Amino acid sequence: MNARVIDGKATAQNLRELVAAEVERLVAQHNLQPGLAVVLVGEDPASQVYVRNKGRQTLEAGMRSFEHKLPANTSEVEILDLVEQLNSDPLVHGILVQLPLPDHVDEQRVINAIDPAKDVDGFHPMNTGALSNGDPRAMVPCTPLGCLMMLKDQFDGDLSGQHAVVVGRSNIVGKPMAQLLLQNHCTVTIAHSRTRDLPELCRSADILVAAVGRPEMVRGDWVKPGATVIDVGINRVGVAGQDKARLLGDVAFAEAATVAAAITPVPGGVGPMTIACLLRNTVVAACHQHNVSCQLP
Ligand code: GUN
Repeated sequence: MNARVIDGKATAQNLRELVAAEVERLVAQHNLQPGLAVVLVGEDPASQVYVRNKGRQTLEAGMRSFEHKLPANTSEVEILDLVEQLNSDPLVHGILVQLPLPDHVDEQRVINAIDPAKDVDGFHPMNTGALSNGDPRAMVPCTPLGCLMMLKDQFDGDLSGQHAVVVGRSNIVGKPMAQLLLQNHCTVTIAHSRTRDLPELCRSADILVAAVGRPEMVRGDWVKPGATVIDVGINRVGVAGQDKARLLGDVAFAEAATVAAAITPVPGGVGPMTIACLLRNTVVAACHQHNVSCQLP
């Protein structure tokens, strides 16, 4: 292995320390304690783990945490009522509705009901529009924001002119990732399952972001020598003879690490950064709502 393994855990810990210090300052100077509300509908095991971690890390950063766990058969109207209540609660500065929602609920309708100022996921059309307009007040989705921070570290803050290939076009990762890279002066290609000659295209990438949800789809010979590889995949794969599932990324790590200059591992890469960015977004949202300046990256 030649590649530098990007330490998402350490980068996330750094960011969480900055967030905690900023929360302390806001409480001391402005009597403002940022609060995050998380809504979880149903019993999806992966979502339960995420929500538990979010709650714990919110409290550790000195913020208020509000958890709303609703049964899987909760109606859309009840969810919309809860969102409305959180929109008008002055102790809540950030609202996150964990996705996916059960099939009988219209996800976009729920997202559209969140006050854009409290939309710490950055999924509301007002925020996706602001991001694509390059408006610095946009709330930026947490996963791509975390990826961007790690890339900027790797490139000493300057991504200009790099060819970035984003594999995956989801609203949560692929599309906002492409917008952020474009804003940072990359030449951006968005690839997906219908892209022709995907390995060849990936081989032209200086920055390769894999966000497709297919274990180890990106092979070592898809990676340009010296490229930086960001692996967003978190795939739980059963192992014969073992109870516990293994976590695999979208990139075949061992192969890619012999070719790339730098690569994020799974676990310990993008994952920890996502929650740290959520805490960051909540503090930024609280500052905007109270018209005070925020000292966070
Ligand atoms: N499910 C998977 N990732 C996310 C995320 O970033 N935000 C929300 N709300 N749900 C998710």
